[in-house]
Order: sequence, then C-alpha cells, then structure tokens
Amino acid sequence: MTPRKKTTDEKPKITKPAHPKAVSPIPSNKTKSAASSSAKPKAASAKSQTQKKSAVERPRMYVRFSLAQRIEHVIMLLSFSTLALTGLPQKFPQAEVSLLIIRSLRNVETLRLVHHVAATVMMFGAAYHILVVGYKMYVERTPLSMLPAIQALLYNLGIKKSRPQMSRYTFEEKAEYWAFVWGAVIMGLTGFMMWNPITTSRLMPAEFIPAAKAAHGAEAILAVLAIILWHFYHVHLKIFNKSMWTGKLTEEEMLHDHPLELADIKSGFVPVKIEPSIKRKRQLIYFPIAGVLAAAMLFGIYGFIQGEETSITTIPPRVEQEPIFVPQTPTPLPTIPPTNTPSPAAAVVTWKTAIEPLFQQKCTMCHGQAAIAGLNLSSFADLMKGGQTGPVMVPGDSANSLLVQIQQTGNHRGQLTPEELALLIEWINAGAPEQ
Ligand code: HEC
Repeated sequence: MTPRKKTTDEKPKITKPAHPKAVSPIPSNKTKSAASSSAKPKAASAKSQTQKKSAVERPRMYVRFSLAQRIEHVIMLLSFSTLALTGLPQKFPQAEVSLLIIRSLRNVETLRLVHHVAATVMMFGAAYHILVVGYKMYVERTPLSMLPAIQALLYNLGIKKSRPQMSRYTFEEKAEYWAFVWGAVIMGLTGFMMWNPITTSRLMPAEFIPAAKAAHGAEAILAVLAIILWHFYHVHLKIFNKSMWTGKLTEEEMLHDHPLELADIKSGFVPVKIEPSIKRKRQLIYFPIAGVLAAAMLFGIYGFIQGEETSITTIPPRVEQEPIFVPQTPTPLPTIPPTNTPSPAAAVVTWKTAIEPLFQQKCTMCHGQAAIAGLNLSSFADLMKGGQTGPVMVPGDSANSLLVQIQQTGNHRGQLTPEELALLIEWINAGAPEQ
C-alpha cells in the first residue's frame, strides 16, 4: 500500500469514533508549532508527529495508570521474574547457569522455597486484581476495556483491510493481558498439583502429576518467551513506553496508540456517570461480597501453600551420603514387622549357609582384606562392624540396611542379581541369623 492510500484510509476512520458521544479526536493545536502541521490533516500526520518531537513546548500528558496499578505491575514484574529465575533452573538442572543460580541460593531446597514465596506473592496479586476488576464492574460500571476486540482480530487475520483505531488498550496490550491470565491459570493449577500431590492424587489419577509438571515447565518457557519477544518488543523496542513507571503518556503517544480514548478524553465524554448516592449504595453491596470473596481467596491460598507437605518432605529423611537422585529402583519387598518370627517350616537362610558364600563370590574382592569404603564382608563379625558410614545392616529391617539400599540402586560395582538380593533381604528380615 502506498503512503497516500494509508492517509485516505486513516482519515475518515478517525473522525468516526466508536463511542457515540465522542466528537472529533483531532487534537488542538496547542502543543505543537502551527507551521509544521496545520496544513496537513492531523490524523494523517500522527506518525510523523511521533518522529518529530515537538521541542517547542512540554507536551500535554495524559494519566494512564494510577499509582495502585503501577505498584501492582511492579509486584507482578518482581514475582514473575523471581518465578522464572528459580523455576527454569529446576527445569534445566544440568545447565551451567542453573547450577550457578542454585548454588547462589545454597541448594535446591532454598531455590524451591523462594519459588514458592514468589508464587504466593503472585497469587495475592491475582486475588487483588480480581477484587479490583469486580469493583470496576459492579460499582463503577466502567466499560470492560480489556475485552478482546473482534475488529483487531479480523484485521490481523487479513479479513479487514485497515487497522482499526485503538481505544484504551491496543490489540497488543490485550493479547498480553489475556496471555498473562491464561498463563496464571495454567501455572496455578499445575503448580497446585505439584505442590499438593496427595490431594491431587485423591481427585484424579496420579499420572496427572508428572503431566502437570511437564505442562508447568512448557508453559513457563512460553511465558518467558512471551515476555522477551512480545512484551519487550511492543513496550521497549517498537517504542519505549514508560507509562507503567511515570503513569502518563504524551498526547502524541496517545494519538498514536489510543486515538479513540484520546478522543473521548478531549470531548469530555464520560462513559458512565454515577451519582454519589448510587455509588455509595453499590459499595454497600459490593464491599461485603468482596469481603467474603477475599476471605475465600485467602483461605484458598492458605490451603494451597499449607494444605500438605510437599512431595519432597513427605519422603522420610535419608541417610546423608545417599545421592539425591536415585534412578528407578525395583520395588522393595514389603517389610515384615519385626515381631514376626519366621515360620519354622521355612528353610532358614543363615550367614553360614547362604550369605557368606554369596559375599565371597560377589563382594569380598573389594570388601575383603582391602575393605573398600571401610567395609569388610568376609566374616559375620566384620559385617557387623559396618563401613565408613557406620552399620550397614539392621537385623530385622532390610529397608533401613545400607547393604540392601546400595544394592537396590542397581548399579553398585559388585551387583547382586534380583534373586540374590531377595535372598539377602529375606535373611536380614529374618533377623540375620549367623548359624
Ligand atoms: C569392584 C569393587 C566392589 C565390589 C565388588 C563391591 N563393592 Fe561395595 N563398595 C565399593 C566402593 C568403591 C564403595 C564406596 C563408594 C560407593 O558406594 O560407590 C562401596 C561401598 C559399599 C557400601 C557402603 C559402605 C559405607 O559404609 O558407605 C556397601 C554397604 C557395599 N559397598 C556393599 C557391597 C556388597 C553387598 C557387595 C557385594 C554384593 C559389594 N559392595 C561389592 C566397591 C565394591
């Protein structure tokens, strides 16, 4: 399209505001030198205006975001960044930079804690946002300026030929807002499932928990990319929009991005006027409802973070030397309660008859005279002395015997076959008789 055509496209549009009461949005000439622009139609020169900054006078500013909105944005910015910085290292634990971040917080436990705190902050932010939107909808009855606009969609799909004039929020801003809402819902739900695995497995098959983990990580990447590509491009690169910090936009910026809103402001058009008495009445209805809603959401957040111990702490604390990550192990045989005396009918497995020969064959080349890891397995007495970390066997309790635990990881340097391991477990559970 030639620039000329664009001009004719834009000009009639801008004089036809979406709001019935709005008058012509063409700005007054106050803010710029008359010579430079009075000859051209104002709407058509909107673009060139942004380039030629009027150096003559300080441009008129339009309030865009209240202090509360800007604080809300900062809180979301901080919690989002913290979530990304502490979440991605959990998704990519092998990466150098992940290790750097994990180490800078001492360990992965602290990292998870910080992640959870940031998530909690974001949940509070979301709850606050819901209450504010509720107030605007019920008490102030402001038009829902964030709703998706069909015109912009048709234009982006190529069905409509000219880009529609934007009002309070542009297509890009709406897309980002709804992406954030969508992301927050997905991350909240899947985060809940990982944070509360026991509750989750009561509500649905437990396979959903690893699925939630996968979704959480994938959505995280999507969200971070959306911020880096979409947000940074539209807010920092295409133009540098500082309104989230200063709270204001210049007239030029308003005309460029939000011509319809500017038109409304200039014409003094107020979408909804409410009598103070009506406002008071609505507040009297809304505040109790909001109070109940707030209490429910606080209760929900409390349940979310306090409802149960996380997947990590529900596992009993382990021996310190044990690796944190243990590859899949064969399911251990059920532990027989210690009071159970072995039935006399069963053939008794003893050190002499079964275990000593087994260890001679499989272990003593390392755990014999050489006593690797301080462990000598050549006699019953030596076995009972244990290894470098203390006792390796608790008679009657194979599950807590290092001897068994080490073998169950399945990759020890001297590895028993599953049958041999079962024999060892049977022996220990029977009280580890020597004779
Ligand atoms: C090829 C050498 C080798 C053989 C064979 C071997 N181990 Fe080990 N074992 C090691 C080494 C090395 C360590 C120390 C570090 C480790 O766990 O990797 C160790 C550690 C252990 C420990 C931990 C001791 C402690 O106090 O930390 C136990 C228990 C153990 N082995 C049991 C066995 C048993 C049972 C067998 C036979 C089925 C066996 N090992 C065969 C090399 C061996």
